[in-house]
Amino acid sequence: MSERKKINLPHLFKKVADTEPITWLTCYDYPTAYLQEQAGVEMILVGDSLGMTMLGYETTLPVTMEDMIRHTQAVRRGAPTAFLVGDMPYMSYQPSVETAIRNAGRFMAEAACDAVKLEGGREMADRIHGIVSSGIPTIGHLGLTPQSVSALGGYRVQGKGALQAKKIIEDAKALEEAGAFAILLEMVPDRVCKLITEKAKNCFIMSLGSGPHAHGQLLIYHDMFGLYPRFKPRMAKVFGDAGRVILEGLLGYVSEVTQRQFPQPENWFGIPDREYEELLQLLED
Ligand code: KIV
Repeated sequence: MSERKKINLPHLFKKVADTEPITWLTCYDYPTAYLQEQAGVEMILVGDSLGMTMLGYETTLPVTMEDMIRHTQAVRRGAPTAFLVGDMPYMSYQPSVETAIRNAGRFMAEAACDAVKLEGGREMADRIHGIVSSGIPTIGHLGLTPQSVSALGGYRVQGKGALQAKKIIEDAKALEEAGAFAILLEMVPDRVCKLITEKAKNCFIMSLGSGPHAHGQLLIYHDMFGLYPRFKPRMAKVFGDAGRVILEGLLGYVSEVTQRQFPQPENWFGIPDREYEELLQLLED
């Protein structure tokens, strides 16, 4: 295990003050969390994108609190010092402030999260205010918000027009005033992200496909390593094609078993001759 000290909010705000970019990745399971911890990734998001990347749904909408809690617990076991963010799934916060507080509390109590994230602009400001007032650090999420993909008309850049960009800037201010300590901008044009980053006073801004001017960067782990078979978003950089490496290994396994090249003696266990003779004798008796 790494020797790293627990990442907390003062550490993250110090990085912002020192103008050092913050690293943030999605993660959904124990072995990947272990590797991210070893690599020094500071923030981990257990995103409801796990509905697509891990469970094979077409969207994030079917994901439940139970799904989220199970995966978040596994990630915490693998990454004890990362700043862990639980992503509030569809309809876990939209119905009311009370629903939002109760479900945010579950992430903290049952999965040892450091914070939660939820999607939406000023219409969700009261949810953020309620959760923050309950002592739970909260991140807002603006721009492309996948839980509203139907209303947004698909997975597309948000804020390309001046009016829509102004609305995102105003929404960011509303979330900051509601108490969000950070705001994620997903697929927002770089110069709009820069304006929001410059205006942020009490929160920091994270970018997913929104350019280099934010205080830090988020990527979806499965996109970084060629592990999501349906598509690769343009904004994602592939840092290593693990999908191809794994596929080559699987093809090798199928071929070796089929041709009786696997297993070899080092892959199985034997019984001493004397014990085996005795066993045969026992079976005969
Ligand atoms: O669920 C998720 O991984 C997210 C990212 C798309 C930001 O919310």
